[in-house]
Amino acid sequence: MKRIAVMTSGGDAPGMNAAIRAVVRSGLHYGLEVYGIFHGYKGLCEGKIRKLNRYDVTRIISRGGTVLGSARYPEFAKKEVREIAVKQIRDLGIDAIVVIGGDGTYRGAQALSEMGIPTIGLPGTIDNDISSTDYTIGFFTAMQTVVDSIDKLRDTSMSHKRCSVVEVMGRHCGDLALYAGIAGGSEFIITPETGFDKEQLIEAITNSNKSGKRHAIVIVTENMLNVLDLSKEIEEKTGFETRATVLGHVQRGGDPAAFDRVLATEMGEYAVDLLVKGKSGRAVGLKGMEYVDYDINFALNKKREIPNKRYGLVGRLK
Ligand code: F6P
Repeated sequence: MKRIAVMTSGGDAPGMNAAIRAVVRSGLHYGLEVYGIFHGYKGLCEGKIRKLNRYDVTRIISRGGTVLGSARYPEFAKKEVREIAVKQIRDLGIDAIVVIGGDGTYRGAQALSEMGIPTIGLPGTIDNDISSTDYTIGFFTAMQTVVDSIDKLRDTSMSHKRCSVVEVMGRHCGDLALYAGIAGGSEFIITPETGFDKEQLIEAITNSNKSGKRHAIVIVTENMLNVLDLSKEIEEKTGFETRATVLGHVQRGGDPAAFDRVLATEMGEYAVDLLVKGKSGRAVGLKGMEYVDYDINFALNKKREIPNKRYGLVGRLK
């Protein structure tokens, strides 16, 4: 192993830069040449690849986004497109790649690995929807961003005696909504895991309004329902003035929280250690206090364990 590469793909997440830095510095520590692939799988196919040195990653540990750039590139599912990528990798004499991203990124890594390119996957997404790790890089930072927004919305909701419905990212995973909802002291949290009973929500808000509560915060995971429609219905049926807020891409930005920097740095080092040991086709994760690695295939198909106790707690707090 002489030459490795690192890339980020899919939705950017705070902490990706810390992971890039760790892969570069750790690779250099082992005497390897480290290349950066710019703009994900798309950039890989287009040959946007260049050698990195230790100064290319100076001070990026504290910066949000990804200095390598990222892209969604569904075309990578086609074998003929992946063959272009494999040629680029072979032409440059790159022996292995560390990819940082979510499940789409992992699928690309798995396919490359099956085509003979050693790959290691690091979980980088704000959604926390990768079952082979307890926490993904970016989740903690995004959670704090959502909590800050909830705190602000509570100020205005209380001042106006309003109900506030807030849509939070997560794709099809409720973790961001759930954790941020708990930390923000939200009255109601609706996630794909808890399910949604509209009548029950309306009844609970009516009772809360009658009891003299000045406000209510309802957190909803994206892709479940239309928060504007829900807000109108709450207002019509409960008489509680209601506003909807879609937090959107602001949740993906910002300097990474300390925990994400640590997670990303340790996972980046772990990934290079795996490559040096000759391992490939692995997905790195944090399980409890330990870093672990699984076959990427297994990681992609592993069923997500839902923390039942935690969802039960939300129920009680209603
Ligand atoms: O996967 C991260 C994420 O931010 C999801 O929470 C969201 O559903 C999606 O990406 C949005 O993707 P895009 O930035 O491509 O619109």
